[in-house]
Amino acid sequence: MALGSLESPSRGVPVTAAEFVVVANRLPVDRIITPDGEEIWRTSPGGLVAALEPMMRSVDGAWVGWAGQPDLDVPPFEADGIRLLPVRLSAQEVEEYYEGFSNDTIWPLYHDVIAPPQYHREWWEAYVTVNLRFAEAAAAAVAKGGTVWVHDYQLQLVPEMVRNLRPDITVGYFHHIPFPAHGLYAQLPWRDQVLRGLLGADVIGFQRAQDATNFLAAAKRRLGHETKATTIALPDGRTPLVKAFPISIDTTPYRELAQRPDIKARALEIREGLGNPKRILLGVDRLDYTKGIRHRIKAYGELLDQGRISVEDAAFIQVASPSRERVDAYMHLRDEVELAIGRINGDHDTLGHTAIRYLHQGFPREEMVAMYLAADVMLVTALRDGMNLVAKEYIATRADNRGVLVLSEFTGAADELRQAVRVNPHDIEGVKDAIMTAIEMPRHEQSKRMRSLRKRVLENDVSAWSRSFLTALEDAGARNRSGAS
Ligand code: G6P
Repeated sequence: MALGSLESPSRGVPVTAAEFVVVANRLPVDRIITPDGEEIWRTSPGGLVAALEPMMRSVDGAWVGWAGQPDLDVPPFEADGIRLLPVRLSAQEVEEYYEGFSNDTIWPLYHDVIAPPQYHREWWEAYVTVNLRFAEAAAAAVAKGGTVWVHDYQLQLVPEMVRNLRPDITVGYFHHIPFPAHGLYAQLPWRDQVLRGLLGADVIGFQRAQDATNFLAAAKRRLGHETKATTIALPDGRTPLVKAFPISIDTTPYRELAQRPDIKARALEIREGLGNPKRILLGVDRLDYTKGIRHRIKAYGELLDQGRISVEDAAFIQVASPSRERVDAYMHLRDEVELAIGRINGDHDTLGHTAIRYLHQGFPREEMVAMYLAADVMLVTALRDGMNLVAKEYIATRADNRGVLVLSEFTGAADELRQAVRVNPHDIEGVKDAIMTAIEMPRHEQSKRMRSLRKRVLENDVSAWSRSFLTALEDAGARNRSGAS
């Protein structure tokens, strides 16, 4: 990816007002210091960057975000045609706003309390302080009558804050993760403040229709606002739109890389390196407790124990990229996953074959595409996931219409990708059967399903997503400017 290779951003670009400002917790690049002390900027993790980067290149825009390290003062700079406006976070703010409130309170709460959310008042204070800093940076960067597009759960207060600072602009918000049912959401001690924060936007976009419904219900119950099908009537006369806009990927690089002879050769080399098994299964996730990695491993281990598969016939590659490593729940998960894999491999490996090839690393996109090409079966068994873009990446690479996607019904992607083999990841017997169905699926059926999955993904790519969000935002902004008191 172009940004990944960026080594020395031109510094000190003068900040002129931008028509369009994206606000996200992370900049699209993270600052990394190599072992020999060199500064490089690498594409930051997660689906958000991949989703927005292509759109940002095509507009006169700026991106407000954090450079991924504490106590780092970086002046505004430009990277690959995108103007970047870094927000500084102190070490304590990283702990309380990012690791704490964002990733140990909101993240588990919004993912249906798979891990227990921690509620701490100091974390909330830090969240308010940091959200205000992002809002001020966006308000200072946006041109008169311009647009600010706020992203994700780390910044839920920014829409209201930025609107208060700049009533002349249009504000959009897109929520990349699930929004929970009221029975869970109601746990949040600051539930009303968060709703008010989000309602500062003209469009509040979600991944699934269910997320939008949950939000509308919460706004009605908690704040007493009147809701129509997809709008909320606010006392100030504004009527924000609340709707699902399922996100997707930029399919072009995946399709192109999948055709490259060197990457096809690399896929064969991967198969070779695993001892030429009949079937390769693949899981690709951030190492996160929402992803159902343990459930998948348990099911796979039982299939081996029962002799339904053997290490000679099948190899399972699990890529688990390091994530949020200072948060307790993530440390525990890593221990559990590694213990489980170690046991399974100890029981089943031979000198020539490994049951589960576990890679606690991130890989460049080229290598990921080679793995997607090598994989006969892709396993996505998330317990809860806003969308899951890995499922769409896999599909985008399968130009020959071969390969099977096993997909959890608790992902946003399951609403769209109906031809996948669907699983309830909590049902271990069901996961085992789904894995066997995928392994044994005849070619013609693979091809029938993959053809329809590809049609869906290729037609609804990320530019279709951003276009539909931004068109809705333009309409809602105009409506609210004329309606607001
Ligand atoms: C998810 C979130 C993103 C986040 C990404 C990576 O995709 O929706 O907002 O950036 O995970 O997590 P991290 O905490 O490393 O930014």
